[in-house]
Amino acid sequence: MRLALLGCGTVGSEVVRLLHEQAADLTARIGAPLEIAGIAVRRLGRDRGDLPVDPTLFTTDALGLIKRDDVDVVVEVVGGIEPARGWLVEALRAGKSVVTANKALLAEDGAALHDAAAEGGGDLYYEASVAGAIPLLRPLRESLHGDRINRVTGIVNGTTNFILSAMDATGAGFAEALEEATELGYAEADPTADVEGFDAAAKAAILASLAFHTRVGAADVHREGITEVSAADVASARAMGCTIKLLCIAARGADAAGRETVSVRVHPAMIPLSHPLASVGDAFNAVFVEAEAAGPLMFYGRGAGGAPTASAVLGDVVAVARNRLAGVRSASESAYADLPVRPMGEALTRYHVSLDVADRPGVLAAVAGVFARHGVSIATVRQGPAGGGAAGRGEDADLVIVTHVAPDAALAATVGELRGLEIVRAVASVLRVEGGL
Ligand code: NDP
Ligand code: HSE
Repeated sequence: MRLALLGCGTVGSEVVRLLHEQAADLTARIGAPLEIAGIAVRRLGRDRGDLPVDPTLFTTDALGLIKRDDVDVVVEVVGGIEPARGWLVEALRAGKSVVTANKALLAEDGAALHDAAAEGGGDLYYEASVAGAIPLLRPLRESLHGDRINRVTGIVNGTTNFILSAMDATGAGFAEALEEATELGYAEADPTADVEGFDAAAKAAILASLAFHTRVGAADVHREGITEVSAADVASARAMGCTIKLLCIAARGADAAGRETVSVRVHPAMIPLSHPLASVGDAFNAVFVEAEAAGPLMFYGRGAGGAPTASAVLGDVVAVARNRLAGVRSASESAYADLPVRPMGEALTRYHVSLDVADRPGVLAAVAGVFARHGVSIATVRQGPAGGGAAGRGEDADLVIVTHVAPDAALAATVGELRGLEIVRAVASVLRVEGGL
């Protein structure tokens, strides 16, 4: 079984190392030796340390390598949309099997890859694209195919989970925690994809597509990052027995006419400390799946890093290699349900709203009236002197309101109207609440 490796960076170099260290076991498990036919990289002269591989295997001609007749399996760990999309479509159309960790490409144009796989008859596996080492996509696309998944809630970005965990543990602000994440090598030099939620949104699209048998792309996912989360938000969450996590939530629902829909979103949210995802700290990932017959299932582990991600890649390589030897392919993409994706405004959410208001008669009633006008029911209200402490600042009060579930658009309109009120000095923070309080 001959393998073309595209990319030899953080993940690719660990794939090479594991292939070397476990050669005998992999041969036994597959039923044939697994050999590297070539490794495509960008810089031939790059120092690759003591990587256990023949240096003549390196090439900058990825397409030439893919097209070789002696290549059976293409492993792509380069990342990005192009040229990866062109390479993988070419490989799949030619009947080769593909293993990729490229969540950005799968979320942007998974359809092109699935269609090419169907045309060429090879396998397309991508376990490493979501939650690194955690076996999650195979359970969704195989083990749970006899069940009906209603909701997937996950922490799928390690960098942001590290930052939010550090803010929670130390009281640090976002900038300070990001600096620590960068120093420790969790955050990349350009952390935009992580902190603005793009990485988690791509993973959410992949999870929703598999869970609901529907093509969901990155553009269908409502996305908010964590850059606006403040130390005060984290402290406020703590005071309520909660913590803040960047969640990806994919859920079934129904539109006004009762037709089944899905909603897919990524945003920071307060969750109670008793929630299974609250204890997921550091750079770990965890995904909570709620299925009709199976009930709740929790998947937990390392969502990033060279070796953990390479473990998932190699698992896929073994699966596709076995299939090729047996002359079979795995089930193709399952998108038969084709459910419409609901806009965020229709998603049912709860809000935690923290206001700085004038402390005089009628203010609470006026604020409550705004919620009522937008059909948003208030669950709890907490008032204290502005600035905390017994005395506070005298003329103002801090008002913290937690709502019941309502359409997100109604909650956003409520907050918009509150911002315009003379009695509301400031809307200090607005956070969604998940998992019951
Ligand atoms: P790196 O940046 O460490 O490595 C990228 C590799 O691709 C390098 O070897 C680079 O070559 C090569 N490359 C870049 N552009 C080209 C090109 N045009 N032609 C040929 N080779 C090219 O990335 P990672 O290993 O971190 O990530 C790889 C993939 O895995 C991405 O899709 C990422 O999203 C995904 N992933 C990564 C995880 C992680 O923890 N790192 C976790 C889960 C998924 P050179 O070595 O010469 O620079
Ligand atoms: N940047 C990603 C993270 C890598 O922090 O989780 C894994 O996909």
